[in-house]
Amino acid sequence: MSGKKLIVGNWKMNLTVQGASLYVHKLEKKIKTHRDVEVVLAPGMLALQSLGLQVNRRQFKLAAQNLYWKDEGAYTGEVSAYQLNGLVEYAIIGHSERRHIFHEHDKDTRGKVQAAIRHDITPILCVGETAHEKAAHETHAVLHDQIVGGLANITADEVNGMVIAYEPVWAIGTGNNATPVDVEKAAQTIRDQIAHLYGAKVSKSVRVLYGGSVSSHNAASYLTTPGIDGLLVGGASLNAEEFSVMVELAHTFNETKNLARKAA
Ligand code: PGA
Repeated sequence: MSGKKLIVGNWKMNLTVQGASLYVHKLEKKIKTHRDVEVVLAPGMLALQSLGLQVNRRQFKLAAQNLYWKDEGAYTGEVSAYQLNGLVEYAIIGHSERRHIFHEHDKDTRGKVQAAIRHDITPILCVGETAHEKAAHETHAVLHDQIVGGLANITADEVNGMVIAYEPVWAIGTGNNATPVDVEKAAQTIRDQIAHLYGAKVSKSVRVLYGGSVSSHNAASYLTTPGIDGLLVGGASLNAEEFSVMVELAHTFNETKNLARKAA
């Protein structure tokens, strides 16, 4: 857990380069910069370069939605961590759409996590169970496997700065968001697993996000869920009003918590 909240907007395959620029203009006006909230935008690959010139990095950081683990070579259509270096601060890795539509396995996510770290990009590793796995009470085992599989050969120091997003597959884009109780349990499972692999200190410092049908209406409950450091927002991040409300909520909750801490 870090004191700062992290709010990530995953735009997926939406907006043209020009549309992305116009949208960022809107967000720039709507979203206040708070020292206790880090706001990350993950536009499509094509818009990264122009947005890199447009955004004030104190207001918005940038993330790639994917990357390839080889640095250079004959890999038609891929973009490597090496090429993204300097352009993005973060990369979303192992998103369920990558796993399920493009058949990425833990072996792929592992290579990508390693490549991101090698090129100074903070990985946001996505983990989460399908509806079928949830029904079979396999959430714990799935999270365990995806974390062990995704983080093999990564050192404690490297995991320290990482972000892990709990994104139940059944909750993504469905309007069927997970209950805060389930999210708290999943965050605990993730942190227990990290503690087991890397020790208690790393398990406390790794940042854990929740994602899956987050909106301005349910964001507050996740921002106050123990073990959760922020949100990975898909659909609602394409609505400036919705997204800015979530950022303000993150700031408000942090401020309230700090005031309570000072008064205690
Ligand atoms: P959603 O997507 O907020 O539209 O459910 C979340 C994600 O895929 O990261």
